[in-house]
Amino acid sequence: LSRSSFPEGFVFGTAASAYQVEGMALKEGRGPCIWDTFVKIPGNIAGNATADVTVDEYHRYKEDVDIMKKMNFDAYRFSISWSRIFPKGTGKVNWRGVFYYNRLINYMLKQGITPYANLYHYDLPQALQDEYLGWLSPKIVEAYANFADFCFKMFGDRVKNWFTFNEPRVVAALGYDDGTHAPGRCTNCSAGGNSATEPYIVAHHLILSHAAAVKRYREKYQAHQKGKIGILCDFVWYEPLTDSIRDQEAAQRARDFHIGWFLHPIIYGEYPKTMQEIVKERLPKFTREEVEMVKGSIDYVGINQYTSYYMEDQPTYSQTPVSYSADWHTQFAYDRDGVPIGPRAHSEWLYIVPWGMYKAVTYVKETYGNPTVILAENGMDQPGNVTLPGALRDTQRVNYYKSYITELKKAIDDGANVMGYFAWSLLDNFEWKLGYTSRFGLVYVDYSTLKRYPKNSAYWFRNMLKLRERRN
Ligand code: GCO
Repeated sequence: LSRSSFPEGFVFGTAASAYQVEGMALKEGRGPCIWDTFVKIPGNIAGNATADVTVDEYHRYKEDVDIMKKMNFDAYRFSISWSRIFPKGTGKVNWRGVFYYNRLINYMLKQGITPYANLYHYDLPQALQDEYLGWLSPKIVEAYANFADFCFKMFGDRVKNWFTFNEPRVVAALGYDDGTHAPGRCTNCSAGGNSATEPYIVAHHLILSHAAAVKRYREKYQAHQKGKIGILCDFVWYEPLTDSIRDQEAAQRARDFHIGWFLHPIIYGEYPKTMQEIVKERLPKFTREEVEMVKGSIDYVGINQYTSYYMEDQPTYSQTPVSYSADWHTQFAYDRDGVPIGPRAHSEWLYIVPWGMYKAVTYVKETYGNPTVILAENGMDQPGNVTLPGALRDTQRVNYYKSYITELKKAIDDGANVMGYFAWSLLDNFEWKLGYTSRFGLVYVDYSTLKRYPKNSAYWFRNMLKLRERRN
């Protein structure tokens, strides 16, 4: 495996998000976001950790970009904190925030690292949550489009690769169904609370916000800035547990309720048929004008792919709507006849299944007309990989990357139109509800000193990518 096994111009990078790495959470003029509120509720985060400091990329971005360069990466996928630019979500600009992203972008360009900027990674300004419940209100569409527009105007002379949202499914499902992400709106979902409707309303507004931002970009900026824009979707591969029709249908339902929820409207202008049939009147509808705006609203699609599960039909499904997750009426299985689908990483959702990468990428090719794909996240938190110096010998992570990237290459060789690959993540960082107990980095961070220590996986990438041809 080496850089030359990939198509001409293929981009390798790492990915991270503002809330997880920046630190300076309520400083330098940044307004609070919904995660600042969520982490303060005892019990929400392992060790009741916060991201007030995390890895302090706000100050250490030069060091981090230098590490990327040293490891022969071409690109960095970062996100822009909305409340660092507009502390209240709309209105007054915090110029210190704008200057921070200018410094980061300019330094990346100076070092030959191409910026891939994502406009939303879970960190809604708290002010908009307080004012009208954020994504639950249609008002959010205009507010988000204005924020996006401002970023295109400020940074689009240098940023040529944009994403509107990271994992909108996670925003809707974890924020409004199981309640494990901000704003933690699942009230009594197992007993039929708001989670029968809210995830669908939130997803609808996310899709409309995405499309409205893309419309602005296309109408006002794209012709002269000459960049591209897309969205980032998480995609767990769902494999039927058995060959039975019921399990095959269960797996297909799961794919529809997962990636189809977002990609289907964006490519075809409507929600997947299975969702329409099951969710019925709880599923919002797009107007004719909205369909026009949503359909075709990407130049490429980012796919975050880590893991795979078996899916089994759940015939006992009750017809009473309970929640987004119950609507699939499928059951997750992690083994088949006692044989696990793959070994588990530290995160309980992450099973190591390299062939799922091939299947997921091929599915997107076949189902959505072979769109341009950026494999925008892939990685793992190795169990027990926590203390120095042992944590640097991350053999399992090296093997994970080797095997997944090999499967990605197979999918490309078989015709999938993939233009880039991003590892999650350069550094260990704030891993949402797991706080600092989960380490996804190629580079270890000692949280008491904030010193960075490259793990073996970082050197593995450096070696794999060493035939570096300069690309613009
Ligand atoms: C995302 C992910 C990241 C996680 C990573 C490891 O939404 O893009 O949640 O933020 O840190 O996937 O779990």
